[in-house]
Amino acid sequence: MTDNSSNSSIPASLLRAAVKALQRGSLVAFPTETVYGLGADASNTQALTELYRVKGRPAARPLTVHLADVEDIAQWAADIPPAAQKLIDSYCPGPLTLILPRRPEVLDIVTAGSENVGIRLPSHPLARQLIRAFGKGLAAPSANRSGYLSPTTAEHVRQEFGADVPIIIDGGPCQLGLESTIVDFSTSPPRLLRSGLLTLDMLQETAGVEIQTPALAPAATSGAHYKPHTAVQSCPTSDLQACVERELAQHHLPLAVLYYTPRAVFSNGPDLRLLQLPNQPLEYAQRLYASLRYLDGCSLRSIIIEDVPNTAEWAVLRQRVQQIAPDNHKLT
Ligand code: TXA
Ligand code: MG
Repeated sequence: MTDNSSNSSIPASLLRAAVKALQRGSLVAFPTETVYGLGADASNTQALTELYRVKGRPAARPLTVHLADVEDIAQWAADIPPAAQKLIDSYCPGPLTLILPRRPEVLDIVTAGSENVGIRLPSHPLARQLIRAFGKGLAAPSANRSGYLSPTTAEHVRQEFGADVPIIIDGGPCQLGLESTIVDFSTSPPRLLRSGLLTLDMLQETAGVEIQTPALAPAATSGAHYKPHTAVQSCPTSDLQACVERELAQHHLPLAVLYYTPRAVFSNGPDLRLLQLPNQPLEYAQRLYASLRYLDGCSLRSIIIEDVPNTAEWAVLRQRVQQIAPDNHKLT
């Protein structure tokens, strides 16, 4: 059952079906402002086991608990440090995940045995409506098979899971299109575990404390994720033309170019697909994964992504592009 809900409320019959499914331990996919989530009852071991199985997720990777209301955090977290509370006050609900010390009753399968629990309060009205109607926390990783790109439309989820996820709440394309920023408050100073559209500067200023970045960039520490199946390389704008010519000469065809600089570099043809992304970072972010998924379905030999600008407002996208295409010119 995929329902084309409006962006502001879930039809009553679908909501009833979704809540019943969650109560009996089944999975329900739902939209958030970042990416679609695959939800299961965070207090039901059998439902969580099924979630790991369907996603193909390694057992060592913990799940984030999604809540509707700030007051509910205390049911899951044993302690909320003052700096974390400041982020909660400013950014929850919103595209932020906090890692906090867990309460003892939180299931080991949620935290993958760790003493900390990931908490997220999505701002999407349909996500909040679903969680409120269910009345309990929803464990919800991104609704993709482990290792693949996060989904930003209900159709992505349906294509990937088919009958394995019979209920998908359709809220249209996700507004942000990139996963939430993750800050780990189990250490002092806190650490940035995943960058996102809430930037380190914004978070540090609000929290009033330093937030450490790992020695390796977050993108580099989790390079096994967010990848399409097709070989992808990134290429600086100044070299894009030469790079495409090299690929054409070497018959790495059919080939796609995902670019944003507003100029036609080549002409579209059977062996060369050109896909232009917006040249503004927020619009680019919203469409990046959907564009890569689309190209991944085109039976291409390779995809070239134009490197995005090396500026603060593009920083998170630069990381994601590096993560998707770690080596420049790796096909040549
Ligand atoms: O935007 C998002 O965060 C989306 C939407 C659906 O909310 N969710 C998402 O979930 O991206 P997932 O599971 O694909 O990524 C969450 C990350 C994982 O890398 C997981 O290992 C980490 O958060 N995480 C969750 N709980 C943790 C914990 N207790 N300690 C350390 N890392 C944790
Ligand atoms: Mg994920």
